[in-house]
Amino acid sequence: MTFEPFRIKSVEPIRRTTPEQRKRLIEAAGFNMFLVAADDVLIDLLTDSGTGAMSTEQWAAMMRSDESYAGSPSFRRFADAIQAITGFKNVIPTHQGRAAEHILFSVMCRKGDVVPNNMHFDTTRPNCEFMGAEAVDLPIPEAQEPACPHPFKGNMDTARLTELIERVGAQRIPLVMITVTNNGGGGQPVSMANIKVVKEICSRYKIPLYLDACRFAENAYFVKLREAGYGASTPREIAQEMFRHADGCTMSAKKDGLANIGGFLCTNDDSKAVAAKNLLILKEGYPTYGGLAGRELDAIAVGLNEALEEDYLEYRVGLTAYFGNRIAEAGVPIVQPPGGHAIYIDARAFLPHIHPTHFPGSALAAELYIEGGIRSFEMGTLVFGKRGLDGVEQPGPMDLLRMAIPRRVYTQSHIEHVIDTILKVWRRREQVRGLELIYQAPTLRHFTARFRRAGVSAQA
Ligand SMILES: Cc1ncc(COP(=O)(O)O)c(C=O)c1O
Repeated sequence: MTFEPFRIKSVEPIRRTTPEQRKRLIEAAGFNMFLVAADDVLIDLLTDSGTGAMSTEQWAAMMRSDESYAGSPSFRRFADAIQAITGFKNVIPTHQGRAAEHILFSVMCRKGDVVPNNMHFDTTRPNCEFMGAEAVDLPIPEAQEPACPHPFKGNMDTARLTELIERVGAQRIPLVMITVTNNGGGGQPVSMANIKVVKEICSRYKIPLYLDACRFAENAYFVKLREAGYGASTPREIAQEMFRHADGCTMSAKKDGLANIGGFLCTNDDSKAVAAKNLLILKEGYPTYGGLAGRELDAIAVGLNEALEEDYLEYRVGLTAYFGNRIAEAGVPIVQPPGGHAIYIDARAFLPHIHPTHFPGSALAAELYIEGGIRSFEMGTLVFGKRGLDGVEQPGPMDLLRMAIPRRVYTQSHIEHVIDTILKVWRRREQVRGLELIYQAPTLRHFTARFRRAGVSAQA
């Protein structure tokens, strides 16, 4: 692995706590990592969204920014940077990715429509359903097999896409989306070949293709590393080609925009852009700031280009792979191959004695917190399962524990601590107990759910 391609100019202290203190803290938080205070966490791998460190160039750009309500030069720099990478005609700033999704689906979808995606993220699905449309996931079969080392597990199943369009009719499908990389499916990339075939199918049926582009730079780097014919291309050239196959995109700049807030919607469809901007004015702000400060637009303009630097991507993808490979070599079951922004542990395989209805992912998250102060994110039964009116829990398809790595924040020795912690828990995994859900909100329950330890009788 290459060393971190940056020096550290400004530091934030990490407050140490003991396992005994953390045991009390996690119990008080109802065993829900979202309810733990950030300063009680040693290494925070809850999300890579908005948690990155900005560069000196980004801070300098923020100082140079302009806060005019209309026509700010900060917007011009923002739009220029996005257009140079994506080539899209219309750039619409939003306060974050989900706002771009809400606006896109509002102007594209009607009740009864169907929106295919390789995998809708947990904000895209409800935003699509909010319009009365059906969100359909079409991952390739390998995406459901954590141990399968397919190089492009984020790919869409193109046979199922054609079958779906034939079955429901193209007039009911206002757009097709591809999420790069596929966050819900393990941060796995989508190949250029797959994007091209999806575009060909969409063109045949006159359906526009949009990218959920949050991690476009990481996806481009995986194409460079893994897809024949791209080894000599730069990540920027690959990203430009990915966007050329699409008609628009939504983006959370909190990921590969290397910013702490922000997002955008792009489209080549001028009439949809007009409708989107009208809604933007109502919901987000004037089209040259869209809910963002001028300084945030400038930070994103610089961040999008830094995210495409090859040194940075080599370090980023290399660190994630180092982390994943080290724990996998010791036997820890992870989603293979390691993704771009995160390592996903297969908690069902890690803790086979805990039945999925007793939340092995959340139980493992609590254990890693107690052992080493690490915060992670359950992407399993709590997020994708459901509790029926009869109180019976229906498990999600998998119980994954996501450990997302903030960009440019942690060094390799922080990651060594994470590896040591996971391996300590791995060695005593039979002693880890499941959890009983005692509170859930009606929607997006993972943010506020509360648990207690399951009794011995609750084990499978
Ligand atoms: C693939 C994907 N799409 C959309 C979003 C939503 O972005 P935001 O959190 O900025 O609203 C996320 C955020 O994690 C994501 O990972």
